[in-house]
Order: sequence, then structure tokens, then C-alpha cells
Amino acid sequence: MILIDTVEGLVKSTEAARAGGRRVGLVPTMGSLHAGHLSLVGRARRDNDTVVVTVFVNPLQFGPDEDLAAYPRDPQGDVARAGEAGADLVFLPGDDEMYPRPPVTSVRVAGLSEPLEGRSRPGHLEGVATVVAKLFAMAGACRAYFGEKDYQQLCVVRRLAADLSFPVEVVGCPTVRDGDGLALSSRNARLSPAERAAAPVVHRALVAGRREVLAGQRDPAVVAQVMARVVSAEPSAHLDYAVAADPDDLRTPSRLAGEVRLLAAAWIGDVRLIDNLAVLPPAAGHRPQGHSHLERQPCDGA
Ligand code: PAJ
Repeated sequence: MILIDTVEGLVKSTEAARAGGRRVGLVPTMGSLHAGHLSLVGRARRDNDTVVVTVFVNPLQFGPDEDLAAYPRDPQGDVARAGEAGADLVFLPGDDEMYPRPPVTSVRVAGLSEPLEGRSRPGHLEGVATVVAKLFAMAGACRAYFGEKDYQQLCVVRRLAADLSFPVEVVGCPTVRDGDGLALSSRNARLSPAERAAAPVVHRALVAGRREVLAGQRDPAVVAQVMARVVSAEPSAHLDYAVAADPDDLRTPSRLAGEVRLLAAAWIGDVRLIDNLAVLPPAAGHRPQGHSHLERQPCDGA
């Protein structure tokens, strides 16, 4: 396993891999790697010959009141875990290497960046899109792996890769959860034991929403209400949003038809958690209990 801390090093090593006929798989992360991140590394390992994991806590995607300073960092542990999961290269640049000058260029994926996360975290998805565009420019032709856990981010990244003609195939990977349904996240470590016990409410709300859609509910407002009610029944949870949206443009349609994405965000104490689920309403055709099928499926068509 090779550790790289310069942009030039990343550019040259990915170029060399391709020159040797090796396919490159890229897994962008902000480190503190957990089993969710490592599932992406495992998938990249299976699909490619050279696997690059990037570890960079990107200041551009944190708002002024957000947890940049508190964001967990464990570079040594990350290098060890990435290597065990099958990474050939770990790119661990410093802030000055990524942003030698304060950037005045940014990437905004209009439409997809504004609702949901964009409303609660202004500028966040622009920060993500900008750093991902930089990583794509450095890594060159590759497959890049992103988790469905951050579904809006996945949609933004797919669109920026297409719109800016990056030679990158974006691969969506299913959400890894704890046994009680809580999606793994670096932020879970900041939950107190009582908050950790309450946190699966976000997933339970999505499951309740899915049940409603599978039972035939076609009004997205009613599905949203059902999800909101589940969250409000948990005293330590505070709902940010719960919506039933179109899986491609993330807008709420007037009536649900075809595949639906349920997306929710809630505060548990001062930790903000997000999660989402795919649902295929039975009237849309195949596999009425299709949620497990959809959850396992990378959302490559999304
Ligand atoms: P980070 O939060 O570290 O996540 C890195 C990748 O791991 C993302 O694609 C995310 O969706 C995925 N991931 C996180 N938790 C997961 C889980 N429980 N199951 C499956 N995948 C999971 O997302 C970012 O970093 C940054 O915004 C980044 C894209 C690296 C740009 O800075």
C-alpha cells in the first residue's frame, strides 16, 4: 500500500496504472473510516485493478457554524483500515496541497444542490461538488464509488460527472447499517448512549413511509406526515425534513408513481443524521416487496 500526499503523486500514479492496463477505482472519503466506507473500498477492489482511497476533510463543505474542527480525524487508523480493505493507494493531502490558494472557482449543480441538504446546509453541496471535481480531475479515467447513504450527494456527483464530461463512471453503493437500522456515519460517534438508543428513529420513520407507499398511498404529503409523526414520537429527536421524492431530480411530485426515494434528516441532540430508502410502489410493476431488492442494488440508473 502506497501513501501519497501530493496532487502530482496522485496524478502520476493513476496515469501509470492506466498505462499498465490497470483499471482505477476511486473512493473519496473524509476519513474516520467505518464499515460503510470500507464497503465502498471492497466493491472498488472487486471491480478494478488499482484502488485509490482519498482521505481529506474538505473545509469547503462545512458551514461557519458546522463541526469542521470537531470532525473526527484518525489518519493512521484510516491508512491501516483502507489497506486491509484492499486499497493500493491512499491519498492523504494537507489543506495547502488541495487548496494552495483560497479557491475562487466552485462547482454548483443547480437544482439538485438547493433542496433538502442544500436548504439546511447552504453551500455544503457546492463544497462537495468542488472537491469531487478536483479529485476527478486528478484521478483521471476511473470508476468512482459513492454511498447511497448520502443520496443527494450521489445525485449531485453523477450529474457533475456527466455535465463536466469527466471520464468517470459513478457507482452508487448500498447503505451499511447497524443491526437496529441506524446508518453508519462518522457522526454516530458523537451520540451519547441515550441519543444512540434514540437514533434509529430516522430509519424507522423511513420504513413507516415505505410501508405506507407499499400499501398504496400515492400522496407524497401523507407519506411525509407518516414519517414526521414517527420522528416526533421520539422526544430527543427533532425533524429537519422528511420527504417522498423523485429519485432522479429529488423534487416532490404531485402524485407518487414509479420509483420513489424517501429522504429524512433529523437532529438527535446536537448531531444531525440523514438517511434515505428506495421504494417501488406495487402499481409500478415488478416485485411488490421490492425494497430489499432495491436496497441491495447500486442506484446506477438514478
Ligand atoms: P464521507 O462522509 O467520509 O463519506 C465517504 C463516502 O462513504 C461517501 O460516498 C458516503 O456516502 C459513503 N458512506 C458513508 N456512510 C456510509 C454507509 N453507512 N454506507 C455506505 N456508504 C457510506 O461523503 C463524504 O465523505 C464527502 O462529502 C466526500 C464525497 C468525500 C467529499 O468530500
